[in-house]
Amino acid sequence: MAFISCTDVVRVYRIGDIEIAALRGLSLEVDRGEMISIMGPSGSGKTTLLNILGGLDRANAGTIRVDDVSLGFTPVSELVNYRRRVVGHIFQNLNLIHTLTALENVELPMIFNETDRGTRKKRAEELLHIVDLSDRLQHKPDELSGGQQQRVAIAAALANDPPILLADEPTGELDSETSRIIVNYLLRINREFDKTIIMVTHNPIVAAATRRILRIEDGNIVGTYTPAQMGVNTGTVNYVDQLQERITKLNRELADLDKRIQQGQINGEDYVKERLRLTASIKGLEDEIHRHGG
Ligand SMILES: Nc1ncnc2c1ncn2[C@@H]1O[C@H](COP(=O)(O)OP(=O)(O)OP(=O)(O)O)[C@@H](O)[C@H]1O
Ligand SMILES: [Mg+2]
Repeated sequence: MAFISCTDVVRVYRIGDIEIAALRGLSLEVDRGEMISIMGPSGSGKTTLLNILGGLDRANAGTIRVDDVSLGFTPVSELVNYRRRVVGHIFQNLNLIHTLTALENVELPMIFNETDRGTRKKRAEELLHIVDLSDRLQHKPDELSGGQQQRVAIAAALANDPPILLADEPTGELDSETSRIIVNYLLRINREFDKTIIMVTHNPIVAAATRRILRIEDGNIVGTYTPAQMGVNTGTVNYVDQLQERITKLNRELADLDKRIQQGQINGEDYVKERLRLTASIKGLEDEIHRHGG
């Protein structure tokens, strides 16, 4: 059985009389030790999914199993231990406490877990060493760069040695070079420490760092891709040119697609899906060029 499995998960938010279905029967499986990316448009349910897997939110229907814990039926209030020991969560924003130093931020999850002071400090130092921040232990978040802050957040997520890491847009605010560095840390943590990692990202290049990329749209997984299928080759020198080339190719695919619907060669549903996929990829690539100063 898969290490993490979601089957037909539904999450509906109610605000007054209005219902918003954030997840609409979503299913996915992740193996132990795997690192996957999840991509999808804004509002497609990515954060909702991570919050449910992180034990912070609860599905209305469906089955969620994480390492033999059935999250579907456990009240969120009883998931304290699960949240402390099984998952490390890197949030979309608001990761660090701004009045605490890097070291204290990494120690914090261990304080909640009642780890003794000596062990705590030693482990926090080790973790910050892994993300190459040994010389920034006493710095507060505002005294660190965006990429360094995100590395502290990764160290903090690993504090209680959870088998699973959930990373919601870990490179969201970062430029492409810093994004690459952050993803490389996550890849290393996945390989060397055998952590199962689920990473949400808007950026196709970041996503292409993992072997399997899931696409989520309107609360459902609509496709699984390999980096080759994403058409992104991460190792090339002329980075912006390569992005531009990829955009040109995607625009050509988009024009082809429009021709096919005009000629009645595909149905409306497939057309919409494919068009959304292509425009989201193009947008992601354009943002990436923009971040790179292009
Ligand atoms: N607490 C909430 N109350 C009501 N609606 C919510 C709540 N959280 C999320 N939603 C809605 O659920 C849908 C999915 O939101 P979610 O935050 O999961 O999207 P996302 O894919 O993470 O988007 P983004 O890429 O912008 O971070 C959205 O339509 C959102 O407005
Ligand atoms: Mg989100």
